[in-house]
Amino acid sequence: MSIIDFMSLDIRDKRVLIREDLNVPVADGRVTSDARIRAAIPTIRHSVDQGAVTLVMSHLGRPTEGVPISEQPESSLAPVAARLEALSGLKVALVSDYLDGFEMPSADVVLFENIRVNPGESDNSAELSARLAALCDIFVMDAFATAHRAQASTEGVARLAPVASAGPLLMAELDALGRVMAEPLRPLVAVVGGSKVSTKLQVLDSLSARVDQLIVGGGIANTFLAAAGLDVGRSLYEPDLIPDARELAKKVTIPLPTDVVVATRVSGAPSRTCPVTEVRADEMILDIGPDSRAALLPIIEKAGTVLWNGPVGVFEQAAFAEGTRVLANAIASSTAFSVAGGGDTLAAIDQFGVADSISYVSTGGGAFLEFVEGKTLPAVAALEARAHNSSA
Ligand code: 3PG
Repeated sequence: MSIIDFMSLDIRDKRVLIREDLNVPVADGRVTSDARIRAAIPTIRHSVDQGAVTLVMSHLGRPTEGVPISEQPESSLAPVAARLEALSGLKVALVSDYLDGFEMPSADVVLFENIRVNPGESDNSAELSARLAALCDIFVMDAFATAHRAQASTEGVARLAPVASAGPLLMAELDALGRVMAEPLRPLVAVVGGSKVSTKLQVLDSLSARVDQLIVGGGIANTFLAAAGLDVGRSLYEPDLIPDARELAKKVTIPLPTDVVVATRVSGAPSRTCPVTEVRADEMILDIGPDSRAALLPIIEKAGTVLWNGPVGVFEQAAFAEGTRVLANAIASSTAFSVAGGGDTLAAIDQFGVADSISYVSTGGGAFLEFVEGKTLPAVAALEARAHNSSA
């Protein structure tokens, strides 16, 4: 099915509202990996260059809905606005009160403050969607990384805006990932790690039917370890999903870490490497150990295609970075066609300097996984329905 291509529209003097995914890691008020901001810039620049009134919206993290940003300043897009301005050379004004209209500041781009503080965003309220739609003449869905969320700023507004189109980043992602998944070189290996355990564990079931080998890391691996009866101490894991993990482990062979790096705190406490059977009650698993790293290498080496989403440890801390570093280098130096995606994964790719050796780097994390599972992304489905209705 086709989608209205933003790049084909006459947008001069039109109010263009672009949904980007500028959900990037921020530490101490500074953006620590700007890959998603860089990926969004061509769309934003096109809008400005073509003379549109350019409005951009994004989420950052998972703030509490209905609580103003002044009461949860760690969720402010201010660091993102600063980095967007520095990278693009465009003047960016961050606006907090916009839902009922606002006075245009003197700027090239208006960036709406974290869209997820608006009541109704996560449950895709019709009222919020309509208020967002009323702010624009043309809506541009460009946030591939959030296209799997049916929320007011992704799917709801796409149904109600006067015109709903797809931006070039979204189009490029759908095209590239669609081609990879049409005929992947086998064996197809998926590495799924990171901290968003619950959403990803559910994805693994359907993914397991499409890939030849699954590798899990981070909180997901911890859930499988706990499901196997091991004591994971205070590690991040999902107790409610242990039955699901047990069921999945019966269907597919998932190699689990045999040794791990643990500490009682993520920072400021000594770490130690131990067999996975010897994690103490007050410790957290924060990386995989040397034997577990070595066990991953032949799997990656033999792969025809590698899909990588999520780190296998807290790589931002030097003491727990080795597992993800070894994994990143193995993927980068393998002959497999490699596709990597996700906010943390992009940050790891940046940190270990392997971007040029990954065949395709996607901005999507959960969206990328759902796409490779073969699911329809709700925001894309809404764009398709709009294009269908406008041509009917
Ligand atoms: C991501 O980082 O995968 C996207 O920004 C979506 O974030 P979410 O999982 O909080 O919806």
